[in-house]
Amino acid sequence: MKKLILFCLFSLSAFAQEKHRPTMHFTPPSMWMNDPNGMFFLNGTYHLYYQYYPKSTVWGPMHWGHATSTDLIAWTHQPIALYPDSLGLIFSGSAVVDRNNTAGFGKNAVVAVFTHHNMDWEKAGRVDRENQSIAYSLDEGQTFTKFTGNPVIKNPGIPNFRDPNVAWNAAANQWVMTLATEDRVTFYASPDLKNWTRESDFGANLGSHAGVWECPDLFPMTVDGVKKWVLLVSMNPGAPNGGSGTQYFVGDFDGKTFTSQDTQTRWIDWGRDNYAGVTFHETESKRIFMGWMSNWDYATVVPTGSWRSATTIARDLSLVRINGAYTIASNPVAELQKYVTSTKAIKTGSIIKSSTVGMLTGELKSLADFHIELSNAKGESVTIGYEKAGNRFFVDRTKSGKMDFSNRFTGKIYAPRISTSPTMDFRLLTDVASLEFFADKGLSTITEIYFPSEPFTQWRVKSVSGMDLKLSVLKPAL
Ligand code: FRU
Repeated sequence: MKKLILFCLFSLSAFAQEKHRPTMHFTPPSMWMNDPNGMFFLNGTYHLYYQYYPKSTVWGPMHWGHATSTDLIAWTHQPIALYPDSLGLIFSGSAVVDRNNTAGFGKNAVVAVFTHHNMDWEKAGRVDRENQSIAYSLDEGQTFTKFTGNPVIKNPGIPNFRDPNVAWNAAANQWVMTLATEDRVTFYASPDLKNWTRESDFGANLGSHAGVWECPDLFPMTVDGVKKWVLLVSMNPGAPNGGSGTQYFVGDFDGKTFTSQDTQTRWIDWGRDNYAGVTFHETESKRIFMGWMSNWDYATVVPTGSWRSATTIARDLSLVRINGAYTIASNPVAELQKYVTSTKAIKTGSIIKSSTVGMLTGELKSLADFHIELSNAKGESVTIGYEKAGNRFFVDRTKSGKMDFSNRFTGKIYAPRISTSPTMDFRLLTDVASLEFFADKGLSTITEIYFPSEPFTQWRVKSVSGMDLKLSVLKPAL
């Protein structure tokens, strides 16, 4: 009887839950979402804004949606923070805390810096349709007032001129803005967030140029006592595994000019579903990254119901030196651990029935092929693994369930192994409709979404015996 009641309760909650809606990843309450915007931490609260169209499940006139969290995993929806106006739609951007009241809006005002995209001008073929504007909040990011002097940077004749990311540069005693300007980024400087001077350009001849550059982020990171600067740049289309992807550069920044350590193109994630990611501001020595867990190749047609898109799990970034070059490692934030309800050791070979929301960790004492299969009773599956011969990881979603919404969705993709270690470890985080794979302590990362007709509750790992495997169940955060 007890079992029956428990079963009924479980079925009820499963029924109540919307198909494909994640339980550990942020999604909008309903309707369309894309890039995360303006993330910062203030007085114990993380703020996440996002590109939001509250009237449809496809892209439309952009607003900034808003959510808050104390642990980066469980999010509370807040009222919409920014609405389109006569200057245009509210495209991507960043937010800063103006501790010294440089702008004169008030001490500790939160200032959002974003692109106004004028749709009428776009339709009229005007190249100056994108301009940079600001808005300020005197209640810690809850409500914003747009600056009456907008725009603060006028378009010099560049059609793709957007996604300002601003931070205080203490050494230069001024604000620095990193802006995506078609095929490069342009740095601007300002004493007060209102008056901006163009400083320099970076990247026209470096990195991948298969698509337009978008959503940059520039920030310092210290490794072994050495301060380096990281520049994230998203690019769409043309990422190595198709559509949208985020490359990065590591180097030096003197307050005006960025210099890359070398000419190699590096990607923060090799999966198809981590785009437009930027980091939280005001987190002191930590660098926490979140991306949009989708791809412009098919984002508007994925088979979710009342909403579209999720963010990636929040990730802690660190820099690691490999063969003399600085490389980013990304790992889920430590706060995720508190959602683990149980962990058990499992063996290779057998099928384990477990929650679809889980975390599998593995350790290999020497390199060997492995193959993790997540499946359901319908014969649908997604596989993740490592091929020693090519020294590469893969994700295969060719049998993952619903795929007919786009011919760009299916397929097997690869990620090179970056680490040179003779041992290997990995962490695989799965939710209802996504996987995030972190190999070698986050040096090779793959993020992919999928839409099975029933949840994947069967886990199987095929590999050499002696692989140390642990499977954890995670309680829903959302
Ligand atoms: C990236 C992007 C940004 C732009 C926003 C519009 O996904 O194209 O460059 O600001 O989306 O929603």
